[in-house]
Amino acid sequence: MDYPKTRRLMQRGTDFLGCETAILCGAMSWVSERNLVSAISNAGGFGVIACGAMTPELLDAEIAATKAMTHRPFGVNLITMHPQLFDLIEVCSRHGVGHVVLAGGIPPKGSVEAIKGGATSAKVICFAPTLALAKKLLRSGADALVIEGMEAGGHIGPVSTSVLAQEILPELAEEHLVFVAGGIGKGQAIAGYLEMGAAGVQLGTRFACATESIAHPDFKKAFFRASARDAVASVQVDARLPVIPVRALRNKGTEAFTAKQIEVAGMLDREEVVMGEAQLQIEHYWAGALRRAVIDGDVEGGSLMAGQSVGMVKEEEPVAQIVATLMAECEEALARR
Ligand SMILES: Cc1cc2nc3c(=O)[nH]c(=O)nc-3n(C[C@H](O)[C@H](O)[C@H](O)COP(=O)(O)O)c2cc1C
Repeated sequence: MDYPKTRRLMQRGTDFLGCETAILCGAMSWVSERNLVSAISNAGGFGVIACGAMTPELLDAEIAATKAMTHRPFGVNLITMHPQLFDLIEVCSRHGVGHVVLAGGIPPKGSVEAIKGGATSAKVICFAPTLALAKKLLRSGADALVIEGMEAGGHIGPVSTSVLAQEILPELAEEHLVFVAGGIGKGQAIAGYLEMGAAGVQLGTRFACATESIAHPDFKKAFFRASARDAVASVQVDARLPVIPVRALRNKGTEAFTAKQIEVAGMLDREEVVMGEAQLQIEHYWAGALRRAVIDGDVEGGSLMAGQSVGMVKEEEPVAQIVATLMAECEEALARR
């Protein structure tokens, strides 16, 4: 199938990404590794490796392994607070990675320049949580933006996708490349955002349990059983300890996170840690908990990060089939307009 209307609306996105369909699979720590990333890119989408807390050596190996599985373009997602961010950028540059996604906050000074100024002058994609920050990021050199609503899985902001889209797309999408993420499970929603001016979309939850995903079978089963209301945002228990909320399926791990926050807040009280360290401990907690769920299949105590679109994930399907379904649904919706 050709999807002419969809392809026309995705044209700017596909030209920028160098792929056939402007559907990115957002980086998911532990999930977005060589197998899923190469499958997405081979299916015509745009895969993104989740670097997470990887060392430069591990990222180097992951990129090399992904390149061995696909000749198509893919990106790398780097977390801005990673202590070796500039070494990781260097690894991406050495491999000729064309697109680097910077997640986890405002890019530190020099990072955008380092990515664009490397041997391959890669493109920089940033997350924009508000219109003001979106404009600032574009002024600082971001080549494209992702706007991600609170329906998404993983770390989330406070605003919904539909509101962010209304606030940001009419202002910026004509002149700039904006990809919409959060809560997208069907092609009909993609059609809507493309018509509002988005250059493409980013999905995570819908791809997490694809056949090619290495996530543990029990992690996948939990997704297939869950409905939208099971994907809940974590709550902050102590006003002094600001934690970025995480959306995940409700389980014992959700309660354990509350206990972890109380423990870390106590350490702050006793001045055993400073704020930066306390927040880092919280982030390490999430990384460990997600690994336990994705890799070990600990669906009770681990973190089952998932967006509200989890209710639309019903069975294991190959990535190519998911992409084809999304494109067909989008095309059908556009054809009916
Ligand atoms: C299990 C899981 C892990 C994630 N890990 C990351 C991450 O490491 N870095 C990141 O930028 N986003 C991460 N995300 C967010 C995704 O990249 C993507 O933007 C999001 O899933 C899109 O919303 P959706 O889940 O509603 O499709 C994660 C999402 C999930 C579900």
